[in-house]
Amino acid sequence: MARIVMDDLHKVYPGGVKAVTGISLDIADGEMIVLVGPSGCGKSTLLRMVAGLETITGGTLSIGDRVVNTLEPADRDIAMVFQNYALYPHMTVYNNLAYGLRNQGVAKPEIERRVQEAAAMLQIGDYLQRKPRALSGGQRQRVAMGRALVREPSAFLFDEPLSNLDAKLRVQMRVEIRQLQKRLGTTSLYVTHDQLEALTLADRLVVLNAGRIEQVGTPMELYQRPETLFVAGFIGSPAMNMIEMGYLRDRGAAPSTLPAGTDLVGMRPDDMLLSAPAEPHLSLSGRVMLLEPAGAESHIYVSLDGNDQPITVRIPGLPTMQEGAAITLHVPLGALHPFNTASGRRVSG
Ligand SMILES: Nc1ncnc2c1ncn2[C@@H]1O[C@H](COP(=O)(O)OP(=O)(O)O)[C@@H](O)[C@H]1O
Ligand SMILES: [Mg+2]
Repeated sequence: MARIVMDDLHKVYPGGVKAVTGISLDIADGEMIVLVGPSGCGKSTLLRMVAGLETITGGTLSIGDRVVNTLEPADRDIAMVFQNYALYPHMTVYNNLAYGLRNQGVAKPEIERRVQEAAAMLQIGDYLQRKPRALSGGQRQRVAMGRALVREPSAFLFDEPLSNLDAKLRVQMRVEIRQLQKRLGTTSLYVTHDQLEALTLADRLVVLNAGRIEQVGTPMELYQRPETLFVAGFIGSPAMNMIEMGYLRDRGAAPSTLPAGTDLVGMRPDDMLLSAPAEPHLSLSGRVMLLEPAGAESHIYVSLDGNDQPITVRIPGLPTMQEGAAITLHVPLGALHPFNTASGRRVSG
């Protein structure tokens, strides 16, 4: 088991690309941390630096109270699971699992025990004599996880392990990874560009943008109180609506409760209500542009009077209004997210 501490980590690739710029993060023993951010923000680079597959240009990396900056990957006691599985095609599943352990000189009975245990945990016991090409994508992903499990490492690193699976299998494997991680209690660093995967897996989430940390927090903290415009736009689906303060002022709907410096107001699609709540709220009128019924919930796209940008509203169940109808939306003042465009940050008042 291990705590992982990143202190002001930097990565500049030969050629000058600054992929990671000053990342500090303290990961507790047993914690499941998810690194999330758009493509190219430095997630894989950071993970590979922890794995030892990429040199560290600056800063200090410790695993379990040991500085490991220059330690070989094999000496870091961690196991990594990749998106493309990276299985040996000519070896059986059993040998794929056993290979690393044999190289480490682990005794045969111990290898047998670990392989059988991992196979049982991942329900791949029936495929141990097959080659990877005779397995489905989901089964291959399980073998890749099994190969990490048998090493009994002090930390797991996952780089978008579910990206190659179809939507249904992705959800199923997500649940299994979470259960497995909780059961084993192994410190894990999980990379994804999928905010829903991130929200559902993480003890704490780290939102990365252009090689820097935007915000660190529990899924709830990031959803309820995004500290930057980037996080506000990235976490939550459909994305948070942004309405200019000037628009609210012109409509006589600008609440006096928002802190000075607010020029952009965020409103979650769930917080835009069709009937006025008892609590203090603001009201905006517009027209229904498009209805998107999706069974348990529906999205309503609304064009506000005098505003070009469509606003997204999420309601439970199916909509009862018609496209083109007039509509009034009510937003509790407590649900407003005040931002400042110039700083890109939440305004605290
Ligand atoms: N081997 C490399 N050499 C030079 N630049 C690289 C290399 N690998 C990645 N990069 C660049 O570093 C940045 C971060 O890449 P990466 O860590 O792969 O992002 P992510 O995993 O978040 O998509 C990108 O601008 C990418 O083009
Ligand atoms: Mg990547």
